[in-house]
Amino acid sequence: MGQKKIYLGQNNNLDTYFDLEAASNKHIIIFGATGSGKSVQAQNIILDIARNGGTVVVLDIHSVFSKEQIFHVYRKELEMYLNEIDVYNDGISCNLFTPIKFADGTVEKPCDTAGAVVDILARATKMGMKQKGVLREIIEDFMYSGFYETRGIGALDFQLNFNKTNETEYIRNKLYPLISHNIFRPGNSFIKKGKINVVCLEKFDLSTQEIIAELLLSYLWRMASVSSFKENGLFVFADEFQNLISGKNCALNQIIAEGRKFNLNLILATQQFPSSTQRMAQNFMQSGLILLFKPCSDQINIVAKFIDPDKKNEWAKILASLRKGEFIAVGKLTFNNYKYTNPLKISNIM
Ligand SMILES: Nc1ncnc2c1ncn2[C@@H]1O[C@H](COP(=O)(O)OP(=O)(O)OP(=O)(O)O)[C@@H](O)[C@H]1O
Ligand SMILES: [Mg+2]
Repeated sequence: MGQKKIYLGQNNNLDTYFDLEAASNKHIIIFGATGSGKSVQAQNIILDIARNGGTVVVLDIHSVFSKEQIFHVYRKELEMYLNEIDVYNDGISCNLFTPIKFADGTVEKPCDTAGAVVDILARATKMGMKQKGVLREIIEDFMYSGFYETRGIGALDFQLNFNKTNETEYIRNKLYPLISHNIFRPGNSFIKKGKINVVCLEKFDLSTQEIIAELLLSYLWRMASVSSFKENGLFVFADEFQNLISGKNCALNQIIAEGRKFNLNLILATQQFPSSTQRMAQNFMQSGLILLFKPCSDQINIVAKFIDPDKKNEWAKILASLRKGEFIAVGKLTFNNYKYTNPLKISNIM
């Protein structure tokens, strides 16, 4: 059934792991101030997943996963598992318009494939209902034209020009970043099994990066929902993920809430510990594992209270004393064949 635990670091010189079997879900969320060690720990976790035969997709917005940026201790080993996807030059290879096969062996109807792709495109580019209806007709025609299989999503431009109206012009503008860079191209899936698949997005402007990331997450969600990853699982890593949350229907929210069912799991890192009033916060704080690195000084009390409201002063002291590579883990842990469920200070200083 795959990996049973993920190596986190040491507690009192004992190797300590995230207990995947005991956890309510496998999502991992990492908080901490700048420079506290979040990205390095994410690399440690991702490497451990790859070592155990798991598959990872890294949504690399700020080039944090380029070879030069990887922490020197992990670089050599991590490089063995890297599959870098230069989206700017090569696009993302996937069979976007191929009807998916369900677990029982039956195949999706083409109209549902079109509907799913329309949902993905419309959601990522925030289209209204009316445009979505028009897009649906265009996508159906496009699917039957077979253009995607020879040229990719860029060929949608012909289709949009062919029936030019105010609506199609509006849609063309919305989809322009995808069309102009021919983001999706025909071919086998860009995800290689057992690899750390780094989707490099840094050459795009920020808003295009966000659209592509949302499209990819929606696409992964679609694949997951037909059990594509059920057996071996898939971990998706996003650093500074707060930019990827765009409303309650965004793909990240959906995956955090329901990814467990399909073994689609997130590893997320951010400096921003959410205030309890933030609507999104609740879902994210249900992650199977929460790693708390040293917070900014103005967040220490909020984080301490989250760990244990009754002992918040003690935790605040511990949090303030954390060094780079030290953190508090909240979730199901295991060391020495012993299961542990209380918050625990772990050190992974290299
Ligand atoms: N476990 C560790 N052992 C030794 N040094 C570490 C460890 N973790 C981090 N460092 C050092 O601290 C630096 C910053 O760590 P890292 O990039 O992980 O911080 P971060 O929390 O991701 O910061 P930011 O929010 O700015 O991205 C690293 O480049 C490395 O030199
Ligand atoms: Mg970082």
